Amino acid sequence: MTKTLDEAWSVLDAAARASASARIVDQFAADPERMSRMTLDAAGLHLDLSKQSWTREAFDACLDLARAADVEGRRAALFAGEAVNLTEGRAVLHPALRADAGADFHALGEPVSAEVDQVRADIRAYADAVRSGELRGATGERFAAIVHVGIGGSDLGPRVVWDALRPLEPTIDLRFVANIDPRDMAEALTGLNPATTLVVVVSKTFTTQETLANAEAAKAWLQAALPTEGMSNHFIGVTAAPDKAEAFGCGRTFAFRDWVGGRYSLWSAVSLSCAVALGPDEFEDMLAGARDMDEHFVEAPLERNAPVLLALAQVFNVDGLDRPARTVAPYAHALRRLPSFLQQLEMESNGKRVRRDGSEVGRQTCPVVFGEPGTNGQHAFFQQIHQGPQVVPAEFVVVKSTHAQRPESPLWSNALAQMQALMLGKTAEAARAEMLAGGMDVAEAERLAPHRAFPGNRPSTAIVMDRLTPCTLGALLALYEHKTFVEGVIWDINSFDQWGVELGKVLAKAILKDVEAGGPSADLDPSTAALLTRLMG
Ligand code: F6P
Repeated sequence: MTKTLDEAWSVLDAAARASASARIVDQFAADPERMSRMTLDAAGLHLDLSKQSWTREAFDACLDLARAADVEGRRAALFAGEAVNLTEGRAVLHPALRADAGADFHALGEPVSAEVDQVRADIRAYADAVRSGELRGATGERFAAIVHVGIGGSDLGPRVVWDALRPLEPTIDLRFVANIDPRDMAEALTGLNPATTLVVVVSKTFTTQETLANAEAAKAWLQAALPTEGMSNHFIGVTAAPDKAEAFGCGRTFAFRDWVGGRYSLWSAVSLSCAVALGPDEFEDMLAGARDMDEHFVEAPLERNAPVLLALAQVFNVDGLDRPARTVAPYAHALRRLPSFLQQLEMESNGKRVRRDGSEVGRQTCPVVFGEPGTNGQHAFFQQIHQGPQVVPAEFVVVKSTHAQRPESPLWSNALAQMQALMLGKTAEAARAEMLAGGMDVAEAERLAPHRAFPGNRPSTAIVMDRLTPCTLGALLALYEHKTFVEGVIWDINSFDQWGVELGKVLAKAILKDVEAGGPSADLDPSTAALLTRLMG
């Protein structure tokens, strides 16, 4: 019988207390099926969750929690296009964007798949026209570069995709501008020729301060160099507010709907720049990889479901074991942007403290997510992960074969070694014995032993792929999207709004008004007023 949510949490808390005093490495003998139970393959990815802190009982308790939270029912509601984003009354249908042509998704009862298919065909036709030179700039030259202007979800997804899949010498150079700091735009435009540059402005709302300021700057840069008639070919909008993009002067607009959340939008025309610079086949292969993961997420039982198990490991660490941070280390240079992408995906989705009905969650929710590519991170913050007093669960994304000319084994063997070191640690006795064997005197070995000991028993997850391709990249990003959704279901929060970013936007406008008025207004707090005066001086 399915437990109530409260019952499931109490069982999990008790199992977590027992897990806290157990050694991960001992669990393999305690449960001979641990490897088969806690490893699985999905959509070209291999997951190994066997080095997590859960005992067999805790693992089962986590699955009961998923059942009690009705992950399956809420998943069905998401795919059925119900108003799962209930603070904004919207469906959340990113899976519809990567469905097979001819699918039949509905958002709040309205059919959407025909429009999705049409936009996908438009993206392909446009990408082909730019790449073949059929579509040219105002002076008749072929496009050789794209400047993608956008921020948050209108930037991070396409950036990960481009960095992951870009050829070493692309025929179309793609650059990104997000920051309102003019330096960002200046760097992006350096060396580019307006006559051969396409500017793609991406903004779901087309009201975002940073993006509009950067779009104005890019438009001015084009206008200063190009004849007015041909300008429309250079300045493209991607948005859910096409009227605003047209009013802004975009020569052509690609639209998406409000049921596409910003941080879930890379499957839409938001990735137009990537579809052009990489080619539409690569873009569509990425959609196919994500589609494979969607199918797995919908069809696999909870205990063999990759997004569900990944989510449960996080919930167990955060809530069961009070570990409010997680590091992600992609062992592939091409995936170096993954941690930034995940920061928005997870922290903007689940960095919340109230349930869907407005009451307090009363438990920890989204951890702090941070990371660096391996092995770079090892030479920076991994010291703390190995020997600091807090336990920070680590996630290793390991690629068997990257595009490098040299063998990759030194790269992935480091990932394996890190996970092993985190789990096994090294006792002070072992450290002392090593030093004595190396000829050190007893007093010195005694003095250094505590410094050279590792507590171990620190959890990690491995996500392994053979090659980083459009397909496996799509599957990986969709895996993280569904994992984030499952966590939101378990914490009973709305993962699809982001009210937490609004207050700062309003206050920034008020401060700008003060700047225009010549100084701080009387109601400003003393610290902000003093800083404003200093910066204006
Ligand atoms: O301010 C946060 C945010 O609303 C994100 O959720 C979003 O991805 C980003 O801003 C950009 O918004 P837009 O695409 O509307 O410019």
